[in-house]
Amino acid sequence: MIDTTWWQRAVIYQIYPRSFQDSNGDGVGDLRGITRRLRHLVDLGVDAVWLSPIFTSPMEDFGYDVADYCGIDPLFGSMQDFDELLETAHGYGLKVLLDLVPNHTSSEHPWFIESRSSRGSAKRDWYIWRDPAPHGGPPNNWLSEFGGSAWAFDKESGQYYYHAFLTSQPDLNWRNPDVRAAIHDVMRFWLRKRVDGFRIDVLWHLIKDDQFRDNPVNRGFREGQPPHWQVLPLHTTDQPEVHDVVAGFRRVANEFEDRLLIGEIYLPPKRLVAYYGKDLEGVQLPFNFGLLETRWHARELARLIDEYEEALPSGSWPNWVLGNHDRPRIATRVGIAQARVAAMLLLTLRGTPTIYYGDEIGLTNADIPPELLCDPLGKSVPFLGRDGARGPMPWDASLYGGFSNTAPWCVCPYDEGSPNVADQQESAASMLALYRRLIEARRQHPALAIGSYQPLVATGDVLLFKRSHEGSASIMVALNLGAQPAAAVLHGSLGVGKVVVSAFGDRMGEMVKEEVDLRPSEGLVIELSEQSPRAS
Ligand code: NOJ
Repeated sequence: MIDTTWWQRAVIYQIYPRSFQDSNGDGVGDLRGITRRLRHLVDLGVDAVWLSPIFTSPMEDFGYDVADYCGIDPLFGSMQDFDELLETAHGYGLKVLLDLVPNHTSSEHPWFIESRSSRGSAKRDWYIWRDPAPHGGPPNNWLSEFGGSAWAFDKESGQYYYHAFLTSQPDLNWRNPDVRAAIHDVMRFWLRKRVDGFRIDVLWHLIKDDQFRDNPVNRGFREGQPPHWQVLPLHTTDQPEVHDVVAGFRRVANEFEDRLLIGEIYLPPKRLVAYYGKDLEGVQLPFNFGLLETRWHARELARLIDEYEEALPSGSWPNWVLGNHDRPRIATRVGIAQARVAAMLLLTLRGTPTIYYGDEIGLTNADIPPELLCDPLGKSVPFLGRDGARGPMPWDASLYGGFSNTAPWCVCPYDEGSPNVADQQESAASMLALYRRLIEARRQHPALAIGSYQPLVATGDVLLFKRSHEGSASIMVALNLGAQPAAAVLHGSLGVGKVVVSAFGDRMGEMVKEEVDLRPSEGLVIELSEQSPRAS
């Protein structure tokens, strides 16, 4: 039996706090609202909740612009509300992860105000300040992910500061040991409160080239791609020295018992896995966004899984993500029918899955007219707008979906007939019921929770794989990624099996052997009657 810690068996659930539950009638979700809705997570069966930032912030990037790392923004409530949330969650057996945003602060953070006050300020070097280029203009060609140059000019001191995102999100200088120490203390503040860990924002951005060399021009750039792709981020992200910073975070987490660090990193598998760190002294889970970026096609998904599995360093633990607050919702990307298959894939692959709130009821992206966009990225690059995936959680069919008693902070996108929790609660065939059964199956079958992964078939629209764990029944997962019926052949050696989860909720208990027929967009989780031999 392999030794596992809580986060290896866990299912993580991401909450975007603005949009989960409003408790004080201002149309914005808050901490008391989340506490009130924790039962939903317990009923769903998840183990941990990750909250997008709840800290004091001018909210220009909706909390990813922090003005006080140890304060709760009044929009979300008070520290007492947070303590109550944490205690209630722990009482339910739920772990709580916060969102640490160490790459940049808000320009309203006292550190930046001091840094900007003069060239000689004691905190000048806490941020990245440079003189203009010899003939004027920004120091180099680095681009902001939110459009335009990544350098903002400060008239008073005659220098530019670097911001990978908004001009109001200046990047901290992680080469400065005082910055490291200050953020380490922020981590300790929350860890002492018994927070169970952090998701760390844009971890691969923390260190930039110390010679400030121009990024190479991207010759493959095409219209319709994010504008900052015009240059390749060779000197702005994924620098070798970042691993030292990551190991520093881990050392702090290790001062406490059983805490988890998850890194937000958009890199291909081979480079991503470096964030597990030398001797696994990096983050325990570098977020694997492969499913967000791969075409929804059996062979391509099989290739992704193989590539990721092969890249994993020995002793490391995999993870999978299907959606987050930065990407279109899965039900919009692959369609509502395939969203069921996607849920089955997320929750049966080897590794810790993260569910994005609302995906468990099959929410789709809201269509938001341009004049109502709130997201700063959407305002500068409309096709990258993220509002559509950040809508209020529809709890019931009432006017504001049970989210609030007043108009929500962003367009309430849900028309009559669109999904809500209360309706789905009633139906065994709902998406919510499917998520619950899948999570329950992970709990019941060690093969699903911690077993090995073996690819079987990726032909046409069928994806078939096996999960096994010594001493317990093996599991076969059969997914039809197409809109036509398909048959999955259980090769002779797989023997006979019993369906334990079915995409439409109507085939549980069915016995299958040799061949299993799949309806369009159907998936089955099948318990095989053979047992994996116990290791002697
Ligand atoms: C990544 C976060 O997920 C995203 O929402 C945010 O805009 C950027 N980091 C900048 O903090």
